[in-house]
Amino acid sequence: MAKASDDVNQRQSGVGEPYFCEECKRNHTKGKIYKEHLKFAKFKSVDDEVVDDDNKISDLLSKDDIASEEEALSNEIDEIEEENEEKNEEIEEIREEIDEDDLDEGLEDYNDDGNACVEAVKKLPGVGEATLKKLIKAGFSSLESIAYTPPTIIQKESGLGDKTTAKLIKASMEKLDIGFKSAEVVWEYRKNITRITTSSQELDNLFGGGIETGCVVEFFGEFRTGKTQIAHQLCVNVQLPKEDGGLNGNALYIDTEGTFRPERIIQMAEGHDLDYKKVLKNIVFGRAYNSDHQIMLIKEATNLIKEKNIKLIILDSLIGHFRSEYVGRGTLANRQQTINTHLHDLLRLTDIFPDLCVVVTNQVQSKPDVFYGNPTVAAGGNIVAHGSTIRVYLRKGKGEQRVAKMIDAPHLPEGEAVFSITENGITD
Ligand code: GTP
Ligand code: MG
Repeated sequence: MAKASDDVNQRQSGVGEPYFCEECKRNHTKGKIYKEHLKFAKFKSVDDEVVDDDNKISDLLSKDDIASEEEALSNEIDEIEEENEEKNEEIEEIREEIDEDDLDEGLEDYNDDGNACVEAVKKLPGVGEATLKKLIKAGFSSLESIAYTPPTIIQKESGLGDKTTAKLIKASMEKLDIGFKSAEVVWEYRKNITRITTSSQELDNLFGGGIETGCVVEFFGEFRTGKTQIAHQLCVNVQLPKEDGGLNGNALYIDTEGTFRPERIIQMAEGHDLDYKKVLKNIVFGRAYNSDHQIMLIKEATNLIKEKNIKLIILDSLIGHFRSEYVGRGTLANRQQTINTHLHDLLRLTDIFPDLCVVVTNQVQSKPDVFYGNPTVAAGGNIVAHGSTIRVYLRKGKGEQRVAKMIDAPHLPEGEAVFSITENGITD
């Protein structure tokens, strides 16, 4: 009893005074919070103890202690929460500033261009400053790019909501007049298609006058059949003026195999009496180190095409990385799906930019069940076969000669052409 009354005295004497706590059997200082005491108090019901007459005063003491300690604790928590809130607000402000800076930079690139495409996007209903910035940053800077891209991809890459995306796609489609049209209109469009010469008359004839814009052309064949050589030659030829079989444009070369050789470009440029320095300058080069990187480079290409006057995209080769990365039967479905999406990214580019030509190279794989005829087939199976618009098979001939065979084209007859690979590039 004497001890309990001592405690009461100490409690009454005020903050800062030491006293012995009966509950946790430790010395406490009034007004301080003790972890050990809280642990003890947590497991003890205060109400239960009040019933016990013998320990009534000490129980009252612990009840008061707990109350004051709880109050102090809750004050402290309030303070911490307030501080956290302030810090979160600061972080949010900094984040917003960074985003704004990034987006502004993106917007500047386009404003420099005085881009009419961006102006058209700006005029779509519901497109404010923030939405426009998001669209441009994700590479959707024209009506075509919005209209031809699946909504899920626009949402994923721009961060816009599904309703906004659906509205934008619908409005872009209306503006572009996408829907049914007469074959006459399609014919008018096809008449405007231009072509790049291959530097071989025979090969050009196989393509109906050169490699046409607005589609994906695939060259497939065994090693050393000239796929990479044709790719190099087209990078030079696309730069020629229209009257000489070029498109007056530049090339974007994505190399997945490390076989791009500027020295070959120099030889080919000299073959056309072109200033090789200028020719090299007009080829934008990107080395893809793996399949994800390759996919990313093609996505980034969207933003380069207008800016750099790109009229030809080379992807050499289309599925090399996929073949080495996706090993085993279990990964086949996944691999084919990824290649399919990738090919559609390429096809979409030709929809968005009708004066763009996309050329991909592809390897062959052997068909173990073929005993007569050609035992090789293009890698990638049906997915690639359906994805590319025009497919040409290359094989070796005598010496420098190579044979190209038209395998699939919506409007060209099957046929063959013989061409040569020389020091100055492709010729008849
Ligand atoms: P892979 O990439 O291995 O599948 O082969 P590819 O089809 O891409 O072969 P590529 O286009 O690189 O062709 C290589 C062949 O082009 C060589 O075997 C040579 O026959 C020929 N070639 C390359 N450079 C020259 C050259 O300077 N002069 C001549 N005459 N031929 C060349
Ligand atoms: Mg090659």
